[in-house]
Amino acid sequence: MIAPMIPASLSFRGRAARAFAAALSACTLIAAAQPAPPADSQAGDTPADDASPGGAQPAPARLQPNTMAARVAACTACHGAGGRAGPDGYYPRLAGKPQAYLFEQLLNFRDGRRSYRPMQYLLAGLPDDYLDEIAGYFAGEHLPYPAPAAATAPAAQREQGRRLVMEGDAARKLPACSACHGQALAGKAPAIPGLLGLPYDYLVSQIGAWRTGLRHAREPDCMAQVAERLTPDEIGAAAAWLSSQPVAQPYVPDPSDATPLPLECGSQSAALRGRR
Ligand code: HEC
Ligand code: HEC
Repeated sequence: MIAPMIPASLSFRGRAARAFAAALSACTLIAAAQPAPPADSQAGDTPADDASPGGAQPAPARLQPNTMAARVAACTACHGAGGRAGPDGYYPRLAGKPQAYLFEQLLNFRDGRRSYRPMQYLLAGLPDDYLDEIAGYFAGEHLPYPAPAAATAPAAQREQGRRLVMEGDAARKLPACSACHGQALAGKAPAIPGLLGLPYDYLVSQIGAWRTGLRHAREPDCMAQVAERLTPDEIGAAAAWLSSQPVAQPYVPDPSDATPLPLECGSQSAALRGRR
């Protein structure tokens, strides 16, 4: 008998393939090669009209041609309207993440430091300035966050997670996540993202990807050093605590200041030098 279950990884790939086909048929990124529209046409950008996370996509026919919203329709086919995240936590939220962080990720995918074939394909050959404009569009989408996940992990595990995130473990030279990601975990300007409002699975898979060398950031890659000091249990505990926290309001990154980070982070240094 043929097993009726599709392994999760395959069904993800199937879904990704379908979303990618939809993205290609929208074909709007071809407009990327065209000059930017005059500023006043940006006024036609339609904010998302559905407040539920991962809500239905607006029909392409309703998009104003040549606005940024139309030009990123290929992206929002996967990432949700305005970059609010896909419905199941697999396609990450883009909305409201710091522009310099998003820009850095687009460079990472385009230049091979992160690997996800459909995005590499869409971004190949796009110039830095255009990627920065796309980053700016999603950074400016301030959409509501979903309610935090129910705290299902045992209290002791959540407490272990809270301690790692807020205090670190000096004996093991493990800095607190908050030392870089901000006291309220809302990020640190210009390039460090916040850690709230992200699903457990996304957090575990991203930290895991750094640990296994699938995700890289610009050198020195501080997150790779943090990830390799964490055990799988600790990654689970930190993700369980983080994903059960409400998103701080207002959710605004700490300003950049002269205090050095506990480890040097190449992406933050480059953004501070004005790499973009
Ligand atoms: C086929 C689906 C798909 C399409 C189309 C797509 N993405 Fe993605 N994107 C993903 C997935 C899946 C990830 C997470 C990959 C990983 O874990 O490394 C991702 C990750 C990202 C990230 C990193 C997010 C973070 O917080 O680190 C950014 C930024 C991004 N995408 C922007 C875009 C933009 C801009 C476009 C359009 C040019 C686009 N994506 C098109 C599926 C897609
Ligand atoms: C030394 C500073 C530093 C510390 C400490 C640190 N981070 Fe990070 N983190 C960063 C930087 C910088 C980035 C952005 C990297 C890039 O450009 O890809 C990042 C990115 C991330 C991301 C990706 C977010 C996304 O939207 O994809 C996650 C998840 C994350 N960190 C979790 C943690 C956790 C959990 C801890 C604590 C155990 C931690 N970080 C500690 C600097 C730090």
